[in-house]
Amino acid sequence: MKKIVIEGGTPLRGEITVSGAKNAVLPLIASSLLADGVSRICEAPWLADVNTMCQVLEHLGIQVGFTQDSNCLEIDTSTLNGIEPPGELVRKMRASFLLMGPLLARYGAAKMSLPGGCAIGSRPIDLHLKGLEAMGAHFNIGHGYIDAQAQRLRGNRIYLDFPSVGATENLMMAATLAEGATIIENAAEEPEIVDLANFLSAMGAKIKGAGTKVIRIEGVNHLQPVTHVVIPDRIEAGSYMLAAAATGGEMLICNVIDEHLKSVTAKLQESGVEVIEGEEGILVRGPDAINPVNIKTLPYPGFPTDMQAQFMALLSVAKGSSIITETVFENRFMHVAQLSLMAGDIRIEGHSAVINGVSRLKGARVEATDLRAGAAMIIAGLMAEGRTEIENICHIERGYANICQKFEQVGAKIKIVDD
Ligand code: EPZ
Repeated sequence: MKKIVIEGGTPLRGEITVSGAKNAVLPLIASSLLADGVSRICEAPWLADVNTMCQVLEHLGIQVGFTQDSNCLEIDTSTLNGIEPPGELVRKMRASFLLMGPLLARYGAAKMSLPGGCAIGSRPIDLHLKGLEAMGAHFNIGHGYIDAQAQRLRGNRIYLDFPSVGATENLMMAATLAEGATIIENAAEEPEIVDLANFLSAMGAKIKGAGTKVIRIEGVNHLQPVTHVVIPDRIEAGSYMLAAAATGGEMLICNVIDEHLKSVTAKLQESGVEVIEGEEGILVRGPDAINPVNIKTLPYPGFPTDMQAQFMALLSVAKGSSIITETVFENRFMHVAQLSLMAGDIRIEGHSAVINGVSRLKGARVEATDLRAGAAMIIAGLMAEGRTEIENICHIERGYANICQKFEQVGAKIKIVDD
């Protein structure tokens, strides 16, 4: 069983380059189905989740290649011969459900396993289905499967009860080939939504308002395959910023879009960390002491839920008590128990965690309970006294390309052991 082994206490120093955004590339891969021919997605990160998404497309008869030199995924949809993504892959990775919109828009039908919940919550799809039904789709759900049918989708005005990232993406993709106009209200505003809108517009879609709460899409009859460079991964970048802060080091995080990290930068500065946005990247200098801060996760541009666990690791050694409130997911505090194994003093009160800073974390055997909790445990191990072993690292490999190599480059004593 593979595990990550860390000898903590080394301040990280040097440069780390961020890879392409996992949560941008997954909807882009799904969108490639909207056009016939070869689309190229460049600077795509080579991650377990990207590999899974490509396997789903191959199961549908699509040819997928990866050119190492330019990190480009090449997706040829001309041989697509199915509308039923494989159940075991859909259950394994929720993002596979992003194929629903494109399949309905292009082929008027789709059949797939209901995406399972995961460690951080039940992850329902009611907002996806409500929006697609408003566009004329019909769903038959039974025995864990969803069978979808639609004549040509029709544009409609859709209000999202919650600014769901995935629902916004599925509805945008579906609306590009629908008849008439679709208006998505209370839409998600994440940078990954804007990147998707740029990809779709390059294919010939007519989209306005991506990145705001109201997105308007005018349906067209046909889209073209495109070549696109995916945006950098703001959550990977934020995770490395936290590691620099937590180890009292100094790191330059390259290939970032400062705007995407405003809330993380602001909270780091509030906690006493020096963060300087420059031409080359974001420079982060860890202080001798961390100030306690309170954090409330919110949809973008608020503080990202995907950075909550990593920031909790930092605050576990702050000079005082901090409160983190998780408003996006119902069960995203599993890293609390793991940090407590490392001498963290943290208690959960409803949707909040109260973190009483301790002088130092202690290395221990812990596990990655989910992707971002796994990143938090690496950060905790890097700053802890002694040795930390992290199990279930498959969660981490889903979202962080070459994370151990990148940390080794800046002086971390970290390695993957397969015993
Ligand atoms: C995306 O998930 C991201 N994943 C998540 O990142 C991220 O945490 C999340 O957005 C929020 O920012 C990808 O982009 C692949 P949501 P998604 O729909 O789209 C509820 C990571 O670590 N909801 O915005 O699934 C839902 O239960 C992952 O990289 C409904 O109630 O998130 C949750 O409480 C984790 N009904 C909230 O909305 C629905 O139909 C946010 O979910 C859909 C969602």
